[in-house]
Amino acid sequence: MAAGESEQALRAYVEYLRDLGVYDFYRHGEPVYAADLPASQQATAVAPAQPVLEHPVVGDAPKPAVMPVVAAGQEPAARAASPMAPPVPSPPARPVPAAPVMPPAVALESFQETAIPKPVSFNELAPLPTERLASTAKPAALAAIQEEIGDCTRCPLAYAGRNKIVFADGDSNARLMFVGEGPGADEDAQGLPFVGKAGQLLNNMINAMGVTREQVYIANIVKCRPPANRTPEPIEATTCSQFLLKQIDVVQPEVIVALGSTAATYLLGVKQSLSGLRGRWHSCRGAKLAVTYHPAFLLRDPRQKAEAWKDLQMVMKEMGLKPPSRG
Ligand code: URA
Repeated sequence: MAAGESEQALRAYVEYLRDLGVYDFYRHGEPVYAADLPASQQATAVAPAQPVLEHPVVGDAPKPAVMPVVAAGQEPAARAASPMAPPVPSPPARPVPAAPVMPPAVALESFQETAIPKPVSFNELAPLPTERLASTAKPAALAAIQEEIGDCTRCPLAYAGRNKIVFADGDSNARLMFVGEGPGADEDAQGLPFVGKAGQLLNNMINAMGVTREQVYIANIVKCRPPANRTPEPIEATTCSQFLLKQIDVVQPEVIVALGSTAATYLLGVKQSLSGLRGRWHSCRGAKLAVTYHPAFLLRDPRQKAEAWKDLQMVMKEMGLKPPSRG
């Protein structure tokens, strides 16, 4: 396979996994400090005060969940204890290298916070609206949000080759809203969400539910195309979210369908596999929220269409929708 092809294949596979909700090929979680380890593990620690991070730096190569803490010149406990291991002569005493100076725990935690902003659910981002806007007032309210966005330069996507800001499409008074990830090339060119191949499939999904595209409202987590259709960075998604939140509060749909893991992550403030989120109701800004596969994922793996249809049927049942009669 040529270098370019294998790169493409790898990218497609990573996207496939991501759509399934597998984001992290490394683990970042709370740091683990030697001082917090059970006493049995602490015994081998060089310096109990030195923090032992699971994966301290974003993009670090995978490491074991807890790095073994071994004093210089000592055999790792597991190896020494194994009956299969041949006796190993003690190595000559080596000079102990100076321990790297680690920032204090607080500084590390705050670094991780700023490096990877944790998604916060849309419900937590702002108080829920207490009143419904009159349907006649909604188009102007949405136009005001669009005006507020303006020729946005609030996040790096503004400088990443964007052509058009993709605000939304559909009925400002829709009962049903779909939220995707971000514009692709076609959307970026036309300034409308879901108008490319994935959009055609979304249209089919919508029609199969017994409604038309014009009757629903469609938007994305980010309004500008990420270069090469990569996943929006957290800083991009969280910067843009404020506007989607306002759009939801104006439209006030009964049901929101999160298309794929990026939409689910930011709407719900959770980073979980899609399989853990599908098949049940969540809540978002007073609406019921269902999670399903992103149409682009379904184009890559059409076997999952039956599963997506189950999700849509759950929505149809809730909303009293019937599939169009054939004839
Ligand atoms: N994929 C998305 O998530 N949104 C679009 O608008 C188009 C493709």
